[in-house]
Amino acid sequence: MCGIVGYIGSREAYPIIIKGLKRLEYRGYDSAGIALYDDGTIKLSKTKGKVEDLESKVQNEISTHGTLGIGHTRWATHGIPNDTNSHPHYSNSGDLVIIHNGIIENYESLKNELEKRGYSFKSDTDTEVLINLIEEIKKNSKVKLGKAVQIALNQVVGAYAIAVFDKNKPNEIVVARLGSPLAIGIGEDEYFIASDATPFIEYTNNAIYLEDEEMAVVRRHKKIKIRKIKDDSLVSPYIQELQLNLEQIEKGGFDHFMLKEIYEQPHAIRDTYRGRLLSDQAIIKMAGVEDNMKTFLNANRIIIVACGTSWHAGLVAEYIFENLVRIPVEVEYASEFRYRNPVINNNDVVIAISQSGETADTLAAIKLAKASGAFVFGVCNVVGSSIARETDAGAYTHAGPEIGVASTKAFTTQITVLTLIALRLARAKGTLTSSDYRKHLIELEMIPEKVEHTLSSDSLVKSIADIYKSAQNFLYLGRNYNFPVALEGALKLKEISYIHAEGYPAAEMKHGPIALIDENMPIVVIATKKGHYEKVVSNIEEIKARKGKIIGIVTEGDTSVKNLADHVIEVPETLECLVPLLTTIPLQLLSYHIAVMLDKNVDQPRNLAKSVTVE
Ligand code: G6P
Repeated sequence: MCGIVGYIGSREAYPIIIKGLKRLEYRGYDSAGIALYDDGTIKLSKTKGKVEDLESKVQNEISTHGTLGIGHTRWATHGIPNDTNSHPHYSNSGDLVIIHNGIIENYESLKNELEKRGYSFKSDTDTEVLINLIEEIKKNSKVKLGKAVQIALNQVVGAYAIAVFDKNKPNEIVVARLGSPLAIGIGEDEYFIASDATPFIEYTNNAIYLEDEEMAVVRRHKKIKIRKIKDDSLVSPYIQELQLNLEQIEKGGFDHFMLKEIYEQPHAIRDTYRGRLLSDQAIIKMAGVEDNMKTFLNANRIIIVACGTSWHAGLVAEYIFENLVRIPVEVEYASEFRYRNPVINNNDVVIAISQSGETADTLAAIKLAKASGAFVFGVCNVVGSSIARETDAGAYTHAGPEIGVASTKAFTTQITVLTLIALRLARAKGTLTSSDYRKHLIELEMIPEKVEHTLSSDSLVKSIADIYKSAQNFLYLGRNYNFPVALEGALKLKEISYIHAEGYPAAEMKHGPIALIDENMPIVVIATKKGHYEKVVSNIEEIKARKGKIIGIVTEGDTSVKNLADHVIEVPETLECLVPLLTTIPLQLLSYHIAVMLDKNVDQPRNLAKSVTVE
C-alpha cells in the first residue's frame, strides 16, 4: 500500500506534496515523510503518525523551500511504524533519497551482500536496502542515476512503485513501477508523481500511468521518456485525459468521507446504469459483455475472484447469476484462489471485482486465470487501474472516487453492474421471460429512489446505534440474497468501530453462534419479505427465546417481525435480487454512527488501508 507523491517544476513543492499526501492517506497512515531539494541539500523530515503530525514536525525541523520533492504516507510491511522506518530513506552517502510502495522480497540477501561491502542500515525496511543497492551500482558501474535504478530493479524480486532523486542531480526524479501503481501528472513545464491522480487533479488533467516494468526519468523542462526496465526499450507515452474533478474528492459538507459516500449511493447507482440500462427500449447495453457474448453464453461456470467488500459483492452476484442466468458460479477469495492450484479451463469465465483495481491478490488471481486460458472480465471502479488493464474485457462501476477506507458505494455499484450483466445474459440465454426481464429493468431503475428513501431512516438508525454502541459483540444474520449483506454489515462494524461482529446465514445460527446469545447480544436480522421470510421469522423466535436483542431490517409494512424485534428499520419493497441494494444501507449507517459515537477514526480505521497492493 503506501502513498507516494512527487513534484518537479517551478512552484514550491512542499504544499503540493503535503496536500497530495493527505489525499493519499487512504492508502496507509501509520507514518509519513518528505524530502525536498533546495540549494545543494536534501531536507528530510519524517515521523510516525499522520500527515498532520508530519506537518508539525516539519515546522521545527526543516525549511520548506524547494521546487523538487518527494513524500510518502506509509502502511507498514517491513518494520514497525516508527520514525526511522518511515520513508523517505537516504542512501549511506546521503546523496540519494527514495520513497517506495511495495515489498522487496529478496531484500535480506541483498542486504547481506551490501553489508559485506560496508553498507550499514538504520531502519528495518526493505526500501533502505534498495536505495543502497542503487547507490552501490551507481558508484561501481559509474552510471547515471536512471541506469543504476534500472540495473538495481533487475536484481530485485517483489513489487514497487518508487521515486528516487540525487542531490547532485537536482533536475530529475527517477520513477518506476512493478505491481504498485504510479501516475505522472503532466503540467505546464512541471510534473507531478503520485500513486493515483488525486494529488494533482487541481493542477492538470493529463496523466501517464506507468505500466508494470516501466520506468521514467522525469526531468525539469524536458519531455518524459519511458523505458522498459528489463530491456531498456523506449515506450511511447500514452497521455490520458482524466475525468476526475476536485469536488469528487472533497467532503462536501459531510463530517466524513464515509458518510458522504453512503449518501452518494443513489447518484452513484444511477451513474452506474446511465447509458447502459435503457428501460423504455428494454435494452441493456454493455460493450464488454456484448463483444464477448458467445464466451459468456458458452461458459461452463463463472468464477468470481475478489477480496474484502468486493468479495461480498461477488457472493451477491452468485445468487443473482445462478437465479437469473442458471450458470454455476463459484466465489473465491483471490488470496486463496491464487495459491491453491485451482482447476481452471478455457470454458471458464472469471469475473474479478475490485474497487481500486489494484488489489495485489486479485491481480495475481487474474494472471493465473489468464495463464490457464480463462477469459477474465473485470468489474472495477478506478478507471485505468491495473486490474482494468490486465483483464480481457470489463465494466466500470462509475461510482466516483471512494476515499473512506470502509467501502460503501463501491459495494452497491458493483452489485448494480453485476445485476446488469446477469440481466443481459439472462435475456440472451432466454432464462428470463421478456416480461420478467422488463420488470427487472424497471425495478432496477427505481433503486436509486428507494435507496434515497432508505437513507431517511438515518436518525432512527442513529438512535439504535446509541443504544448498542457499548456492545462487545454483534451478530448479523440473513438468508439467501441477504446472507452476503449480513457478512458485509458485520465487516463494516468491525472495520470502523473495532467491535467484534460476525455475519452468518440465519439458519446456521443454531450450529454455533446461538451459544453466544444472551440479553447483552445485539443481533441484526435481515428479514425482508420473500427470501425465505417465514424461516427467518422462526430464527428470530429462536433468538427471542434466548433474550437476544433484535434489530430487524424489514420490508415496509411488515408486522410479524415488528411484533418480535426490539427495533425495526424498514426498507422499500423491491424484487428479491435487488434487495441487497437496500438492506445494505441501514447496516452502513449503523456501523458509521457507532464508530462516530465511540470516537473512532471512521475514514482511516487503524491497521487498514483502502488499496492493498501487497499480498
Ligand atoms: C481493502 C479495503 C476494503 C476492500 C478490499 C478489496 O481491505 O479496506 O474496503 O474491500 O481491500 O479492495 P478492492 O479495491 O480490490 O475492492
